Amino acid sequence: MVLTRLKAKSERKLAKQICKVVLDHFEKQYSKELGDAWNTVSHPLSSPKVGVYPSSILALLVADMFSFRDILTSPSCWQHAILFNRFNYPFELEKDLHLKGYHTLFRESLPYYPKSMKCYLSSIPSRMPSERHQIGNLKKYYLLNAASLLPVLALELRDGEKVLDLCAAPGGKSVALLQCAYPGYLHCNEYDSLRLRWLRQTLESFIPQPLVNVIKVSELDGREMGDAQPEKFDKVLVDAPCSNDRSWLFSSDSQKAACRISQRRNLPVLQIELIRSAVKALRPGGSLVYSTCTLSKAENQDVISEILNSHSNVTPVDIKEMAITCSQDFTFAPTGQECGLLVIPDKGKAWGPMYVAKLKKSWTI
Ligand SMILES: C[S@@+](CC[C@H](N)C(=O)[O-])C[C@H]1O[C@@H](n2cnc3c(N)ncnc32)[C@H](O)[C@@H]1O
Repeated sequence: MVLTRLKAKSERKLAKQICKVVLDHFEKQYSKELGDAWNTVSHPLSSPKVGVYPSSILALLVADMFSFRDILTSPSCWQHAILFNRFNYPFELEKDLHLKGYHTLFRESLPYYPKSMKCYLSSIPSRMPSERHQIGNLKKYYLLNAASLLPVLALELRDGEKVLDLCAAPGGKSVALLQCAYPGYLHCNEYDSLRLRWLRQTLESFIPQPLVNVIKVSELDGREMGDAQPEKFDKVLVDAPCSNDRSWLFSSDSQKAACRISQRRNLPVLQIELIRSAVKALRPGGSLVYSTCTLSKAENQDVISEILNSHSNVTPVDIKEMAITCSQDFTFAPTGQECGLLVIPDKGKAWGPMYVAKLKKSWTI
């Protein structure tokens, strides 16, 4: 019941109005950090060729202009990708989606792309209904922001590996990880007890019983995991608590929103502590992916810089090739970093915000 309410609340947000306090705050920060990319339209009109368009065409183009800010603030433009559940494959739905013009994500070949992971999307904003949770019945698909798959793919999970999802609820990335490979051990951790119940329900809805036996669910403060399980994992995903731009923009309670904004500066401290703990939990030679769903530089590039400056046993992994191969599906903003990618919502590619960085723990200290 509580879970149903929690999910309904996140769905209702789409119908809500923008919270002005948050928008003003983002406006100030992101126009400074992203410069032109935030407010300016990436369109032929902004090119020196403008003079060559007749006025009738110009009018059409103007009507079709969107900046990243416009996309982020217009839920009607947001897209939803459909991640198939390989444990209850929806063959009929697949045929139907083909007929409706959907295509699979990542049409170009990525350096790592498991064939078992199938995700469909349409460039026109549309939303499939969510499936109901029914005890004993596996769901056929999971609706998600397609950019959420980038951190999962960046982790390059292989069969038999030990993997930790440090901040796991509601479980979208854990489910996606299991579409990629059969880990020897998957540890899903979540600190918030209500969200932990949501995580358990997600796992129960998507994963068959024999596989559930290799999954451990815990309710630890992620900052303690490194000391509790030192050098245990081959791979760690830190999908950190963050400003969550989309959700914050549609907060209905502006007092709560103002309070969140004033506490926003504390998030990088928590994020750094979570990564420190994740590094401890990694075996030497293992790798870690850090992700957030905010455009905020303080929670993205600055967090990674701080980790690299304070850990001699951690090196960045260049994942730019992933951005090059995905450019048909996603728009990336420059991060000025070797190891970070930032997906920004664009017209027809209304995915993100999503920041992804990959780090490797060295073999020797
Ligand atoms: C971005 S969400 C994770 C989304 C999830 N990975 C998914 O794909 O469905 C971040 C999660 O971190 C949890 N969290 C917050 N503080 C934490 C902490 N100290 N340790 C572990 N998890 C924490 C939040 O409750 C939230 O569920």
